[in-house]
Amino acid sequence: MAIRNIVKIGDDILRKKCRTQLDFDERLAMILDDMADTMYAADGVGLAAPQVGVLRRFCIVDVGDGLIELINPVIESKEGTQCGQEGCLSIPDRYEEVERPMKVTVRAQDRHGKVFRITGEELKARALCHEIDHLDGIMYIDKIKKNTK
Ligand code: NI
Repeated sequence: MAIRNIVKIGDDILRKKCRTQLDFDERLAMILDDMADTMYAADGVGLAAPQVGVLRRFCIVDVGDGLIELINPVIESKEGTQCGQEGCLSIPDRYEEVERPMKVTVRAQDRHGKVFRITGEELKARALCHEIDHLDGIMYIDKIKKNTK
């Protein structure tokens, strides 16, 4: 396990659409372990593969109730809305108001390829949406509420 460099805003990597992760192998496990080390060392609540330079569809989230690894995640349903401050490890020292769903259900695979579903509300819903956006090259600053820009 190791701490990896976090790609910062301005790098084109963060704007690319990631490809499906097809192999559930040792290499994936190693990157996921490194991503967890990197996220915890940086005091983050989520980290997506492109943020460590890997253009594949997976991310991790931990809002304080345990680590979730999501490979090829898809948002299946959204409910309600919430507005709140959001930040990103790729955009240091900046926080902005962003609107997100209050509740989301996500379908994903675990590191072994097994499909599971997870429902998150409030901060967990926000973190899931934020990290999944990264897999399509979308940053939270693209979604800042117009009246607070
Ligand atoms: Ni981010």
